[in-house]
Amino acid sequence: MEQFEAPIRRSLAAHTGLPEAEVRIEVPRDAALGDLAFPCFALAKTLRKAPPAIAAELAAAVEGELEGIDAAATGPYVNFTIERALLARSVIEQVLEEGERYGDGTLGGGETVVIDLSSPNIAKPMSVGHLRSTVIGAAIQRILDALGYRTVAINHIGDWGSQFGKLVAAIDRWGESVDLEADPIRSLLALYVRFHEEEEEDPSLAEAARTSFRELESGVEGPVRATWRRLTELSLGEFDKIYKRLGVTFQLVRGEAYFEPMLEETVDRIASVGITEVSEGALIVDLSEIAEGMPPCLLRKSDGTTLYATRDMAALFHRWEEYAFHRCLYVVGADQKLHFRQLKAVLQRMGLEWEPRVEHVWFGMLRLPEGKMSTRKGRVVFLEEVLDRARDEALAIIEEKNPDLAGASEIAEQVGVGAVVFNDLKRERIKDIEFEWDEVLSFEGETGPYVQYTHARLASILRRAEAAGEGGADPDWGALEEAAGVLLRIGRFPAVLRSAGAHAEPSEVTTWVLGLCREVNAWYTRHRVLGQEPALTEARLALVRASATAIARGLAILGLTAPREM
Ligand code: ARG
Repeated sequence: MEQFEAPIRRSLAAHTGLPEAEVRIEVPRDAALGDLAFPCFALAKTLRKAPPAIAAELAAAVEGELEGIDAAATGPYVNFTIERALLARSVIEQVLEEGERYGDGTLGGGETVVIDLSSPNIAKPMSVGHLRSTVIGAAIQRILDALGYRTVAINHIGDWGSQFGKLVAAIDRWGESVDLEADPIRSLLALYVRFHEEEEEDPSLAEAARTSFRELESGVEGPVRATWRRLTELSLGEFDKIYKRLGVTFQLVRGEAYFEPMLEETVDRIASVGITEVSEGALIVDLSEIAEGMPPCLLRKSDGTTLYATRDMAALFHRWEEYAFHRCLYVVGADQKLHFRQLKAVLQRMGLEWEPRVEHVWFGMLRLPEGKMSTRKGRVVFLEEVLDRARDEALAIIEEKNPDLAGASEIAEQVGVGAVVFNDLKRERIKDIEFEWDEVLSFEGETGPYVQYTHARLASILRRAEAAGEGGADPDWGALEEAAGVLLRIGRFPAVLRSAGAHAEPSEVTTWVLGLCREVNAWYTRHRVLGQEPALTEARLALVRASATAIARGLAILGLTAPREM
């Protein structure tokens, strides 16, 4: 809609004296009033007039200056309506010209955004929370890429900590009882559970674990380190299977262990500003002056070991030095809010002016019907099984609806995995979600399959048109009057991307694509595309083509494919 908003903004700026950048154009609440609106409230003070009077004067002044755009005042708003043939031609031509790149911008100007996402823990199954982080983080990356930022996706793997001591001790004792190579995740889980069961009876286990972890932290290249390396490799191999199915890649897979050699220097750097103190033998940064009641950040425990927060500080300094990022986003669950507030508070106490560039992009919990998990007790849901089930159920639906579909199993994978991904992105990320199998996979309602199915129906119209040799005439753009709802939706996509990027909020794209599908389906039930007057068929075909392109683009941003048949 920028092609229409720009002249409107220019004209309003000239008549109000506002700088163009401050002329805020909105979408009217009631579509019957117009396509775009300018609220006059903010001008009332400077102009010393009532907003409706300002609106009436402005409407009269700009009307006639804007080619193909009608202006009229309604109450305190100036409403703008774009001439229908112009709207159709302008929006459709832009989409068809830009194609897969529709909506791309140069807003970012190549500035770097670092995105910390996924970040599961080695030797444990990837959790539903990590799945959410992966799916949301990857969508944010695609949005920012489209806007012209340079993005760096970092998988900050949890590959350090005392649990490795436990696992090494468990492998030493019971390694023979499992087949690590064949099924690493289940084997490691079994060992982990057994450790916690037997630890209660046998205190020597805890001691063995501590000794192993101390050896690991000492950096000595011995058997402990070798086991840790092997665990890391096995786990990463398992995680990669999931990433592959989700179509997610990282620029950097850099675990916490990478920062081990930098921890001393990190602690010194914070201490050198004079904000650290020793409390009960531990080294802390007091944060109560930043926010009342905020607990201190613990940098080193009394036994000399460092913590998750210390490694995160090291990683953050490292990222700043490496990228001088415009933004550094942490896509991590709501349960770590305090952790990230503390990190930012330490930066504030250090007086680092780039602190506001660091954002915790948090998200709510996803509850599976299987109930609450506990790694220690061995109660976990394996994500691979969730994705398998989604694929299998999608296949069953497809086989029923379209028994002759070629490549059905491949499409079922795209639809099933896509359904899980879409479900993760469809609400504001801060909301908790209840995962309901029937709802997630339904071909109707607010689901991935519904959007994919809408796209496939449009693709089928285009195929039939080609087979019948239809199309090719000069389109009658004026005939798309009743498709204004579809066209306005499509036209809004670039603005939706900008807003979704600013808020790190993929659900804005989900909401947009769902709205577009609703509009397209409503239009389609009322209009026949094929077999009309050539100029009419051509206009409707162009609308179908532009809609399919826009929907596919939206799906791609969210991390879903757009099958042409399903
Ligand atoms: N591995 C952590 C966990 O599973 C998440 C890490 C998030 N990233 C970070 N830089 N702290 O809880």
